Amino acid sequence: MSTLTAVNTNNDTSIDFLPLQGTDYVEFYVGNAKQAAHYYKTAFGFQSLAYAGPETGVKDRASYAVRQDKLTFVFTTPLRANNEIADHIYKHGDGVKMLALRVDDATRSWEETTKRGAKSYMEPTRMKDEAGEVVMSGIYTYGETVHLFIERKNYTGAFMPGFKAWNTVYNPPPTGLMYVDHCVGNVGWNQMNKWVSFYEDVMGFRNILSFDDKDISTEYSALMSKVMSSGNGFVKFPINEPAEGKKKSQVEEYLEFYDGEGCQHVALATADIVKTVTDLQSRGVEFLKVPTTYYDELQDRVGKIDEDIEPLKELGILVDRDNEGYLLQIFTKPVEDRPTLFFEIIQRKGAKSFGKGNFKALFEAIEREQELRGNL
Ligand code: FE2
Repeated sequence: MSTLTAVNTNNDTSIDFLPLQGTDYVEFYVGNAKQAAHYYKTAFGFQSLAYAGPETGVKDRASYAVRQDKLTFVFTTPLRANNEIADHIYKHGDGVKMLALRVDDATRSWEETTKRGAKSYMEPTRMKDEAGEVVMSGIYTYGETVHLFIERKNYTGAFMPGFKAWNTVYNPPPTGLMYVDHCVGNVGWNQMNKWVSFYEDVMGFRNILSFDDKDISTEYSALMSKVMSSGNGFVKFPINEPAEGKKKSQVEEYLEFYDGEGCQHVALATADIVKTVTDLQSRGVEFLKVPTTYYDELQDRVGKIDEDIEPLKELGILVDRDNEGYLLQIFTKPVEDRPTLFFEIIQRKGAKSFGKGNFKALFEAIEREQELRGNL
């Protein structure tokens, strides 16, 4: 019996006190930002965008911004020990620090969320240069992760004040990645509902889908998940919590190696997943593989789809259908040595869900990797 539940979808009468225009950028704190930027250009097809560091008057860090279509990543590294960024990397390894959200009014966003109980990370701050003004503010979410509110309607520069345009001779072509579809957070035991309430009460999000341990379990491990969506649906944050199983779940492994709660994966949208994944694989991105038997019953499960099954099978792309259409998805292996952050590549053809029909095959694939690491 399916325990998938859709909830609270008729809540549109309330005023959205935090209208979000989408993800502005994702910032990663990393051990070596120069090399991380090179990897994301080479392997994922991002383009050089902007740089901040000692040469631009920023003395304590170096940051590289890269872009592909509407997708902007920033890699930041500290230049010395004993500071917030260095401590973050020592504890968590490379990981997502900022999930920055585009807003029309960063001051009001901060006021509306902090008065509802958000812990402030940064008071509204005006930053100016010759290209105009950006207003930024921020609040903490799970773990040490931060939501920044970015107001850039009066800014025409490459990225932000403090950055200069970063022009390079090495510019590998893009791979068709377009925007952030969703970002998933892993939280600790019994913490999921606390963070569901945070997104509802503090940020005005709605819980649009819930999965319990009967939906997401294998022979060995289980997890629970709730999908939170902003009022206008532009931003989606699923939240995972481990559940009791015979062995250690992937969420527990993450919490152990990230040493706390944090962002588990960022899902990147493409309009042609076969082309994008073929390209990513040829550039060295490693993906989880499901057994080829997954494809034997695929047609029966999802019905007719536009794509040929053979290339999907060759690449390991998964398919799932819901009432509104179908989606194609695939997951990378962790992109650093700690088994923490990974990426999802997703193409939606009508479906608004998250691939429930693939959970079992996918989690068994993750467990095979966990076992190789000795962490199952
Ligand atoms: Fe996902």
